[in-house]
Amino acid sequence: MRITVFTIFPELIQAVCRPSILGAAIENGLLDVATVDPRTYAEDRHRTVDDVPFGGGAGMVFRAEPLSKALDAAAAAEPEGKRSRTIFLTPAGRPFTQELAHELSREERLFLVSGRYKGIDERVLEEYADDRVSIGDYVLSGGELPALVVIDAVMRLLPGVLGDFASAEEDSFQTGLLDVPQYTRPREFRGRAVPEVLLSGHHENIRRWRRRQALRRTLLHRPELLERTQLDGEDRHTLDELRSELGGEE
Ligand code: 6GU
Repeated sequence: MRITVFTIFPELIQAVCRPSILGAAIENGLLDVATVDPRTYAEDRHRTVDDVPFGGGAGMVFRAEPLSKALDAAAAAEPEGKRSRTIFLTPAGRPFTQELAHELSREERLFLVSGRYKGIDERVLEEYADDRVSIGDYVLSGGELPALVVIDAVMRLLPGVLGDFASAEEDSFQTGLLDVPQYTRPREFRGRAVPEVLLSGHHENIRRWRRRQALRRTLLHRPELLERTQLDGEDRHTLDELRSELGGEE
């Protein structure tokens, strides 16, 4: 997969993409992350990419020309017959979800456009955006961290990136429920023992315990997820038990 990030802070993207498993995925040729700085396409002496908003108001707006030139240049440099799906990172977009991460992981090429200031001139979005994506209900000072969030979530779904692919399949949200608690050695830490069932070797009991934990956590922290999850009779019975047990602790 080839991802191109359009940003006036390319070093921010590069700094995160080099180390860790993202870096390993890039080393192994599974992923390529390039950056394009729209400032390169600004024509004035100060390489200005922002201007005051028409209609007034606080803050600055990302100008249309430098960004559109950057996008045109990158599109012209695509291999014969290839086109990158173009995603604008904006708090005014649709929510980024595991489902969208899966969808994007099946693309061969992506353009991720990181805005700054109050936003990007709307006409650029009208002309270039295939999608407008937000990473959550809070405001960040730019689209660089969101672009990195998208890259990380998508990268770990690419075949061959995670050594043990099963570890992605059991993730939170993959099952529609939050992830279960995990433990490793030692068996006791500051007087806290690992749940006995995990030491039992009884796979069916372990499976049931984990399912119950996932349901419990989801009920506590993200009850709205339960409405979109496939639940069987056993799950519904467990949920009834949990609802009567839970007194607001975890
Ligand atoms: Cl994509 N951009 C900015 N600036 N803030 C955000 C966001 C994006 N998603 C959530 N907050």
